[in-house]
Amino acid sequence: MRKNIVAGNWKMNTTVPEGVALAKEVNQQLANAKHNCDVVICVPFTHLTSVAAVIDQKVLGLGAENCSEYESGAYTGEVSADMVASTGAGYVILGHSERRQYFKENNEQLLAKCRLALKNNLTPIFCVGEVLEERENGTYNEVVKHQIEALFDLTAEDFAKIIVAYEPVWAIGTGKTATADQAQDMHANIRAVIAEKYGKEIADNTSILYGGSCKPTNAKELFSKPDVDGGLIGGAALKADSFMGIVEAFN
Ligand code: PGA
Repeated sequence: MRKNIVAGNWKMNTTVPEGVALAKEVNQQLANAKHNCDVVICVPFTHLTSVAAVIDQKVLGLGAENCSEYESGAYTGEVSADMVASTGAGYVILGHSERRQYFKENNEQLLAKCRLALKNNLTPIFCVGEVLEERENGTYNEVVKHQIEALFDLTAEDFAKIIVAYEPVWAIGTGKTATADQAQDMHANIRAVIAEKYGKEIADNTSILYGGSCKPTNAKELFSKPDVDGGLIGGAALKADSFMGIVEAFN
């Protein structure tokens, strides 16, 4: 059966010493408390090696926030999936709306990134989600379907390794959370789209996380929905206490 997962997305926040301290604190709190979900932190590239050195990845998983669509070579400034994996990280966020919006990442690039992540044994956390205009004009189910379909060139075996994160863009960092019912409806839509292509078993086993202003105060209600398998957490992942408050929503 699919796993419940709470993943942090630190974005472009914290220096290396600050990040190491935060990771240590989260790891310690997790080691001391019972929790009923997998917990992952996705951190800036610069932090991966130092964070890997201070956490126990059996307790707290580690991921990057992006990787290159290219394997290696003359791509100044890029970081490959192979490099990310060599730090000891096991996950990578791909297709976050900020990457799609500000860095113009498209479906073709995201498929290439997913393939390279999987080739290097990284678990992609693949983000999808509509913008406000698409929510308001009613096209959101179609929009998200097309984003998911971008990965449909993957084999069933490969697709089965992916974690999906539904993050309505209008809810990210805005304090405006989707209602639990809106999240549930979209997650059920995503699962149906996956089932149509890869079958019910793979769809049922895919973890689909909700992201967008998820906080300790609303996590329990969101996670109580049958198709919401956890969260991808931005702002609230930057303090151990609020991040742990979300992890505890599964207790
Ligand atoms: P937020 O970000 O929790 O700060 O809204 C979520 C995300 O962008 O992954």
